[in-house]
Amino acid sequence: MSEKKISHSLEETNALAAEFALSLKGGELVALIGDLGSGKTTFVRGVVEALGSRVRVKSPTFTVMNEYPIDSEKVKKIVHVDLYRFKDPKHLGGIELDDMMKEYTVVFVEWPDIFGKMFAKADREVRFKFVDEDTREIEI
Ligand SMILES: Nc1ncnc2c1ncn2[C@@H]1O[C@H](COP(=O)(O)OP(=O)(O)OP(=O)(O)O)[C@@H](O)[C@H]1O
Ligand SMILES: [Mg+2]
Repeated sequence: MSEKKISHSLEETNALAAEFALSLKGGELVALIGDLGSGKTTFVRGVVEALGSRVRVKSPTFTVMNEYPIDSEKVKKIVHVDLYRFKDPKHLGGIELDDMMKEYTVVFVEWPDIFGKMFAKADREVRFKFVDEDTREIEI
């Protein structure tokens, strides 16, 4: 059961991200689906900020994966993976999904389909659509 919402601004996207953050139990794999520039990284930044981290989320496009320590009750770490540029699984060497999926860790993956099955069994999905420059449709 998903719900489509329209965000007209970064503030509205941050509010949706904060609401999503409250729903996290820890241990989830979250797939982020949507075109380039549709707001996936912005959403993760909103989640990390809502959970109280002051570290600014940057796109992991060139690093494959970033980790953010979190000091909330249920979530102690956010892992943010972006597979867009990694067409070849050997570039994923350092990533061990099982290691990441600890009870207190939440993993967000942009472009989860790139390796087929590896990230296929996401617990949650968030879909993003570009509407116009300031507007995004976000389906949670
Ligand atoms: N309502 C909105 N919600 C989210 N982002 C918005 C909104 N309006 C404008 N933007 C802008 O859209 C861009 C979204 O970029 P972002 O890096 O989050 O996209 P992405 O989906 O992660 O893309 P990529 O696949 O290239 O990593 C940002 O520059 C952001 O400022
Ligand atoms: Mg991104």
